[in-house]
Amino acid sequence: MRLSKLHLLNFKNYREADVEFHGLIHCFLGSNGSGKTNLLEAIHYLSLTRGASGNTDTENIRLGSDLFLVRGVFEHGEKNREVSCSFGEERKKKMSEAGKDYSRFSEHIGKYPLVMVAPADIELVWDGGEVRRKFVDTVLSQLDKQYMEKLMTYQSHLRQRNGLLKMFADRRAIDHELLATYDERMADAADYIYKKRGDFTARLTPMLQQHYGFLVMQSEEVPGISYESTLTGIDFRKELLKRLDRDILLGRTTVGIHRDDFKFSLSDHDLKSFGSQGQQKSFLIALKLAEFDCLSEKNGFKPMLLLDDIFDKLDDKRIVQLMKLVTGGMFGQIFMTDARPGRSLDALAAGGIVAQRFLVEGGNLSEMT
Ligand SMILES: Nc1ncnc2c1ncn2[C@@H]1O[C@H](COP(=O)(O)OP(=O)(O)OP(=O)(O)O)[C@@H](O)[C@H]1O
Ligand SMILES: [Mg+2]
Repeated sequence: MRLSKLHLLNFKNYREADVEFHGLIHCFLGSNGSGKTNLLEAIHYLSLTRGASGNTDTENIRLGSDLFLVRGVFEHGEKNREVSCSFGEERKKKMSEAGKDYSRFSEHIGKYPLVMVAPADIELVWDGGEVRRKFVDTVLSQLDKQYMEKLMTYQSHLRQRNGLLKMFADRRAIDHELLATYDERMADAADYIYKKRGDFTARLTPMLQQHYGFLVMQSEEVPGISYESTLTGIDFRKELLKRLDRDILLGRTTVGIHRDDFKFSLSDHDLKSFGSQGQQKSFLIALKLAEFDCLSEKNGFKPMLLLDDIFDKLDDKRIVQLMKLVTGGMFGQIFMTDARPGRSLDALAAGGIVAQRFLVEGGNLSEMT
């Protein structure tokens, strides 16, 4: 699968842009604020129906306009498929494939898979468990539709259970029968999610270690991920009952897979406190490449790889290794950005890599010859 055309209208700082992609490696080069990341953001919309940055759709409309349109053509086997996403009219987002509107966006997600490595990934190291859970949930949801459904079931029952706990506190009376139905549905979904998260961590770890080892070219630094769950070694159903009085006082459920975490480590030390910035960045790149492997294996074809500001914080040796890795034939189509064109062009030339290069200036795109 590859993206062969991209058309933007009033998206971020682009009034209008039309690009044709040739080959498999595409570089967007240009100064800070010129619109390189915005192009990756647009590709992210076509794949996952939303941007990568967490901005609202409204924030992605070009200032002074009232709607945006992102359209792309994907080549998939013999077929060409046009995918488009627009937002603005009646504040509604529309996604379509081959001219047919989707009624549910979840039908689109996973068809044109993508893995993105971006500076904001650092929040996976620095922030709390919630962002790591969200990362794992996003990957697992693309790998397993049932996981997505179980997760939605769990989350909605958790919200309702917490509502019940508050109601019991107000009324000073507990409806045990009603509570038991919620506990049972939550526990059923939690069993599945707990198992899948554990399996996924075990599967991801060797892939992470392999990519990290290649990037850093030495074996002393060993990255790891461990799954830490409040469910480990306990009977969840019994634990919910055991904690009931306290949970009623607090108005929330204090045990369950919504409190899970995934601990990142380097040679058995906590990555956040122990790892340098370059080591943390290398870890995150290796983690995303492991995600790439999982998605490739599941789909039988390669996702697009978006590398935003990828060289930042990496030393020259790691940059060379990274270029070798991503252009070594293991990956499919790659889009990368760099604010220092010289650095990317040198790295490409050093690796003898043929890439399509674009200069980005103030929301304008021109192919470099
Ligand atoms: N809704 C919008 N309308 C118009 N311009 C916007 C909008 N949202 C963002 N921008 C502009 O887009 C630019 C940022 O683009 P982008 O993040 O793609 O830059 P970049 O080339 O990746 O820069 P850097 O090298 O610093 O990462 C900013 O100049 C910002 O003013
Ligand atoms: Mg950028």
